[in-house]
Amino acid sequence: MQIDILTLFPETMDAMLHESILGRAAKKGIVSIRCVQIRDYTENRQRQVDDYPYGGGWGCVMMAQPLKSCLDAVISAAGEKWRRVIYLSPQGRTFTQARARALAEEYEHLVLVCGHYEGVDERFIEECVDEEISLGDFVLTGGEIAAMAVTDAVCRMVPGVLSDPACYTGESHWEGLLEYPQYTRPETWEGREVPKVLRGGNQAEVDRWRRKQMLTRTHDKRPELFEKLALSESDARLWAEIQKERGRRRLTEPVTCRPAGENDLPSVMLIFRQAQNYLKKHRVDQWQDGYPDEMAVRADMERGEAYVLCYGGVPAACFCLSARPEASYDLLTDGKWRSEGLYCVLHRNAVEASFRGTGLADRLIEAAEDLARSHGAAALRADTHRHNEPMKALLKRCGFRYRGNILVRAGEGHDPRRQAFEKLL
Ligand SMILES: C[S@@+](CC[C@H](N)C(=O)[O-])C[C@H]1O[C@@H](n2cnc3c(N)ncnc32)[C@H](O)[C@@H]1O
Repeated sequence: MQIDILTLFPETMDAMLHESILGRAAKKGIVSIRCVQIRDYTENRQRQVDDYPYGGGWGCVMMAQPLKSCLDAVISAAGEKWRRVIYLSPQGRTFTQARARALAEEYEHLVLVCGHYEGVDERFIEECVDEEISLGDFVLTGGEIAAMAVTDAVCRMVPGVLSDPACYTGESHWEGLLEYPQYTRPETWEGREVPKVLRGGNQAEVDRWRRKQMLTRTHDKRPELFEKLALSESDARLWAEIQKERGRRRLTEPVTCRPAGENDLPSVMLIFRQAQNYLKKHRVDQWQDGYPDEMAVRADMERGEAYVLCYGGVPAACFCLSARPEASYDLLTDGKWRSEGLYCVLHRNAVEASFRGTGLADRLIEAAEDLARSHGAAALRADTHRHNEPMKALLKRCGFRYRGNILVRAGEGHDPRRQAFEKLL
């Protein structure tokens, strides 16, 4: 694999890319990484590489000519090769392990173009670039860090760079899972022990434990990745086992309640998806029309009404607590509300599947009550589908009383009938 990086800072990059594993691979001739100074290809005496943007605006733009001349020189020196010209850009597709793997497998020569200042003249991109790659949805001052990341990720998958392909095929993101936790000596550090199974010498047990850890970690740390997984039969069995074990677990660590933010969105959506499946399995026609969807959750977040309950730092339940009057509650039939004045409403509460039966749902109600009190509310109200027995049981257990019936989102193609409950605070 040959990689040429077109940059204004070749020395800085060279130092980094010729250290350690990549340095040794380059010495063995398995990879060739060259950082090429774009400035050497200018056609003006000042060796100027950038100029003011047409149309005005901040900063300067890298000119197309030095970039094209530099690229031509690199290509003609490399000769006929399966090649890909990549511009590192915040506007490109986000780089992934899958893309790194494809680049390592499909090409012999990668040319990585690093922009700087406000970026590069668009005509160079149109004329010469095969693909734009971004390191993530943020803006760097230059493409160098992104180019080093791409070079590193690609080169370590070139045969011979690491001692065994298993070094990367077992790692995070290879097959959609995160890797299991790693430990080294000493056996006990700061009172924390290396898990017993890893010291027992039974490799089959170690493998099984590690696989379970991979599933658990992916689920807890990156719920959006977990959701995309198509679990094999053996993984599905392990996952069922994990859920059973978790179901038996008790809440031994503190549960914390905090407003939900954008970063919580994947966890919250996973919790709702699980709740929708749970209700479907129990033949409750509630939340079977895709609701609550991302739009509803975002709206809750924007209004500051979305909350998560975290266990071990990970969102384990979610709910919406609103102090706004609920129009459908004004049309209560078959009964009447007992409170007067300000009330709060608990909406969209759900507990992550592995926490069912742990008492976390009760803690959620307590947290909602505390928040309602802090709003100065005289009561907390909620509603649920008449067949949602677990929710009705939860509300009754927590001191809510049935007050009558209401209709929610009527005319939206679902059963709108709900039973309404109230707890005086
Ligand atoms: C300040 S940025 C230019 C950003 C550009 N004006 C825009 O808003 O899209 C300068 C250079 O840094 C590199 N760069 C910035 N953010 C990047 C990212 N997230 N991934 C890859 N390269 C990035 C690109 O090569 C870019 O030309």
